[in-house]
Amino acid sequence: MEVDRRAFIASIGGAAVVATMEHEAKAEALEHYMEDKLDEMVAEQAGQPEKFPTVAEIEAQIETRPYRRGTGGVFTGQRGQNVKRIEPMPDKPTIQDFFRLRFAPANHVLQSATRAMKTGMSEEIILACLLHDCVLSLIKPDHGWWGAQLFEPYIPEKSAFAIRYHQTLRFYPDAEAGYEYPDQYYRIFGHDYQPPEYIANTYKMLKNHKWYMEPRLVTVNDLYAFDPNAKVSIEPFTDIIGRHFKQPKEGLGYDNSPSAHMWRTLARPDNPL
Ligand SMILES: [Fe+2]
Ligand SMILES: [Fe+2]
Repeated sequence: MEVDRRAFIASIGGAAVVATMEHEAKAEALEHYMEDKLDEMVAEQAGQPEKFPTVAEIEAQIETRPYRRGTGGVFTGQRGQNVKRIEPMPDKPTIQDFFRLRFAPANHVLQSATRAMKTGMSEEIILACLLHDCVLSLIKPDHGWWGAQLFEPYIPEKSAFAIRYHQTLRFYPDAEAGYEYPDQYYRIFGHDYQPPEYIANTYKMLKNHKWYMEPRLVTVNDLYAFDPNAKVSIEPFTDIIGRHFKQPKEGLGYDNSPSAHMWRTLARPDNPL
């Protein structure tokens, strides 16, 4: 199968990201890319649209994995492989240190925030986009709530609100705002998935909330397709972080905030207790 080099490099976040990847990681990314392309080609040749799994098919995969799908990214090896040693965090870690050592490569959030910046979103929304899925390194189910809790002591209330509720609004299209239900969700939840009642109730609450547009704008910028021209670096967000993220002088994890233990868990995922 022929590989479109430019598309491949773009798909993993651009040349700058490729330059920082180890050989093994590159090989794995290429394998991933080719698998996806192959699936696409097979579907195209058959003249059929992509076939999404059912909820039952997804459930049937549970016992085929040595980990649960809700496990945070720092706790599992890639695709069932053994985990690697990770670099220790510096003594007084900042949000930038966590981006570099625990959330990396963070392409998805960096690209969402880049798009939010380009489309003229408020600084609170740009910050929310930058942070909205970072907690997936720690835990995946209810990541909106966990993510908001992790960041809440350090960021504006509107940004925390946007992070908490983007999870809910992802399930509900809003044509006027320019948000469609994502194909990605047919793939990962099943095409016949119905969100549970607490999500439906949260959506009802949000529809009448004066801050509805805050999480909605996170969903509008929440993209999985990589833009080959997007720069994936935290640099462009330095000023926004400086203005809106209250870095504790003791370092994240050591300031006795209500979420300090979550940062420490991210810092030391190999601790047995
Ligand atoms: Fe999310
Ligand atoms: Fe996202």
